[in-house]
Amino acid sequence: MNLTQVKVLKLDTLVDNLSIDPSSGDILVGCHPNGQKLFIYDPNNPPSSQVLRIQNILSEKPTVTIVYANNGSVLQGSSVASVYDRKLLIGTLYHRALYCEL
Ligand SMILES: *[C@@H]1O[C@H](CO)[C@@H](O)[C@H](O)[C@H]1NC(C)=O
Ligand SMILES: *[C@@H]1O[C@H](CO)[C@@H](O)[C@H](O)[C@H]1NC(C)=O
Repeated sequence: MNLTQVKVLKLDTLVDNLSIDPSSGDILVGCHPNGQKLFIYDPNNPPSSQVLRIQNILSEKPTVTIVYANNGSVLQGSSVASVYDRKLLIGTLYHRALYCEL
């Protein structure tokens, strides 16, 4: 298969897994705003969580919104997120998963 680069979007965070919301075509991004904390784990200073939504990725100005953010007190190290039926499921590297209403 031949892949051609179509778009580059700079995000001020460490991007992990991507998923597509099948109903809207939006991209959901599991991110690590402070990725270095994943490697030197300190329970008193845990890695945080962040989920971004990218709308209209191919447009001139894609819209990037923070769908979920937490400093690690609830959820640590979010690596993937997906949406189904107005619910958001967030997975993490080695912490629990979180299931939320949108
Ligand atoms: C997400 O990325 C991590 C690497 O940070 C990987 O270990 C994990 O398997 C990926 N999960 C999914 C659902 O793609
Ligand atoms: C995270 O935020 C909560 C509420 O704002 C605060 O009580 C807690 O100390 C913070 N935890 C860390 C690890 O920063």
